[in-house]
Amino acid sequence: MDNKDTYLLNFKGYNFESPLVDADFLENLDDFEIRDDDVFIITYPKSGTIWTQQILSLIYFEGHRNRTEDLETLDRIPFLEYNIRKTDFLNRPSPRLFCSHLPYYLVPKGLKNKKAKIVYVYRNPKDVMTSYFHFSNVLVTLEAGNDMEHFMKRFLDGNVVGSRWCDHIRGWYEHRHDFSILFMMYEEMKKDLRSSVLKISRFLEKELSEEAVEAIVKQSTFQNMKSDPKANYDDILKHEIGKRTDEGHFLRKGTVGDWKHHLTVEQNERFDKIFQRNMKDLPLKFIWDLNEEL
Ligand code: PPS
Repeated sequence: MDNKDTYLLNFKGYNFESPLVDADFLENLDDFEIRDDDVFIITYPKSGTIWTQQILSLIYFEGHRNRTEDLETLDRIPFLEYNIRKTDFLNRPSPRLFCSHLPYYLVPKGLKNKKAKIVYVYRNPKDVMTSYFHFSNVLVTLEAGNDMEHFMKRFLDGNVVGSRWCDHIRGWYEHRHDFSILFMMYEEMKKDLRSSVLKISRFLEKELSEEAVEAIVKQSTFQNMKSDPKANYDDILKHEIGKRTDEGHFLRKGTVGDWKHHLTVEQNERFDKIFQRNMKDLPLKFIWDLNEEL
């Protein structure tokens, strides 16, 4: 275990959120027992984790869809490496649903049996950075973002929780054949939520009635999640993790292209150069604003 500071804990070359992670758990993560019907949502931070948690929770739990079970998303789909509620993972009934920001090389080795499924969600990195910048100024457990120039340097250098964005996505993409994995794009989810829900449920081999699909789509829109205390994490931020101010929410804007309101022309050009240098040989599509054609 190296480099434990106030905010970041570097373990095997990857930055974890120091105040929320259990170092002993990380040491044993490789051997964490995976069940064939486990499902993992994996993301780089600020790429659509909470949204996909809501969608998967609604797919798997009828009591969530029809609101007969009153459980928070985090209790249905806890974070593997940030187990803030000390959920007993080993005794959870199957199928267990988890979410995680782990890089491909740190996940439990049992995931390579290709039976447990992974939904990997990615988002254009300018919006990831913008979302992350605001979130860093909200949460006490993250180093404050200060201004965008300062944050952009840290983000591009990987001095943030999750380390370098391009390493995360490249690692998962290049090792995709080792896992049973579905890549989902935040912007496509935004563009066509219903098709995205169907794509995810097909991958998970979950048959859904027309009525169920309707309920899932309705309850996972940004507006509905933002006003749903079980889904919006407002209480968790305020009472369990801690906020710097009363301002700021997990569900902030939920749009595509907000980066345009936050990057200068020069910052945008610099970002583009670095993106092209690091990503040019990766055949994944990115959508930077919703007026673009898919
Ligand atoms: S975290 O902290 O890594 O778990 O954050 P994460 O959940 O990955 O990302 C948060 C951003 O996702 C947006 N979000 C949504 N967008 C569209 N529709 C829905 N339903 C939705 N739910 C969450 C959330 O608003 C954050 O993005 P920004 O750009 O900051 O609004």
